[in-house]
Amino acid sequence: MGRVFNFSAGPAVLPEEVLKTAAEEMLDYHGCGMSVMEMSHRSKMFDEIIKTAEADLRELLSIPEDYSVIFLQGGAHLLFGGIPMNFLKKKAGYIITGQWAKKAFSEAKKFGNAVELASSADKTFSYIPDCSDLPITDDMDYVYICENNTIYGTKFHTLPNTKGRPLVADVSSCFLSEPMDVEKYDFIYAGVQKNVGPAGVQIVIAKKSFLDVEPAPYTPDIMNYKLMAEKESLLNTPPCYGIYICGLVFKWLKKMGGLTEMKKKNEEKAALLYDFLDESKLFKGTVRKEDRSIMNVPFITGNEELDAKFVKESKEAGMENLKGHRSVGGMRASIYNAMPKEGVEKLVSFMKEFEKNNS
Ligand SMILES: Cc1ncc(COP(=O)(O)O)c(C=O)c1O
Repeated sequence: MGRVFNFSAGPAVLPEEVLKTAAEEMLDYHGCGMSVMEMSHRSKMFDEIIKTAEADLRELLSIPEDYSVIFLQGGAHLLFGGIPMNFLKKKAGYIITGQWAKKAFSEAKKFGNAVELASSADKTFSYIPDCSDLPITDDMDYVYICENNTIYGTKFHTLPNTKGRPLVADVSSCFLSEPMDVEKYDFIYAGVQKNVGPAGVQIVIAKKSFLDVEPAPYTPDIMNYKLMAEKESLLNTPPCYGIYICGLVFKWLKKMGGLTEMKKKNEEKAALLYDFLDESKLFKGTVRKEDRSIMNVPFITGNEELDAKFVKESKEAGMENLKGHRSVGGMRASIYNAMPKEGVEKLVSFMKEFEKNNS
């Protein structure tokens, strides 16, 4: 069986070219006689891999010198647990736009005074609340957002007005899908298993002055981001192979023309799907138009049986993982960087056909 079109929200589709390179280099990486999985993280070879990955990432996102890049492991859950341990001294404000922000908020409440600044729970997280004038106070150590809500398909197209307080953002499902103005944030983190690489790696981009605090005394060293930055991600054994794959994806992104080009491609793909959803009599998008994500596109027919039929038949037609998240039902197409335009075209023509046969 050949490769399918994989619409999974994560772990998700990776560029075929990257997978082929990884396969070619599996047994003998650049003539050193071993795979990247087998080499010491202190070796010259791996040093070059991690340094090149960082340099390419800095180039792609134009990361300023006063920001550190850290490669961590443990998943987004470990990150949103670690953020309050490091930075919550007096108070932190959380904007609740979905399950991941909610989880981050409940973790923060374990460690200190975390308050809810706004929420879109009243309409099943189908929109981004107005964040232009939130009750943010001067004693807040940071304001936390989940910028792209993977499950609900919403995205902050305008960052909140944090009234001068530092902005911390989980960008897991929109990372590297378009350029971002790093200087607007103090702490950015992403789980790479959506747009960049295999699960297990977390990338942090943080302003050095923001990192320069003492974490709570009980914080494990590997969750102490200041220390991890000082150790250049090598305090302990990092997720070496995952970092190597991320590095290959950065090279692929550069070859594709960088993030401005990626954004153009992603907008084109998303428009194909949203334009059809807007004209369809059977399928409906679930998100307020101005808050739509170009990475995750949820949709429904309004009939659970028909939704299940759609998921089953789309799978038979070679399109995998179109079932919506278990907490919302319906369907969801995740159309990350590595999803080719043909995949979205195939999905839309399948939806048209399905509509014709089921109306
Ligand atoms: C935006 C966002 N944040 C956090 C998570 C949780 O990630 P992890 O499973 O790596 O802890 C997800 C995951 O699936 C996500 O989409």
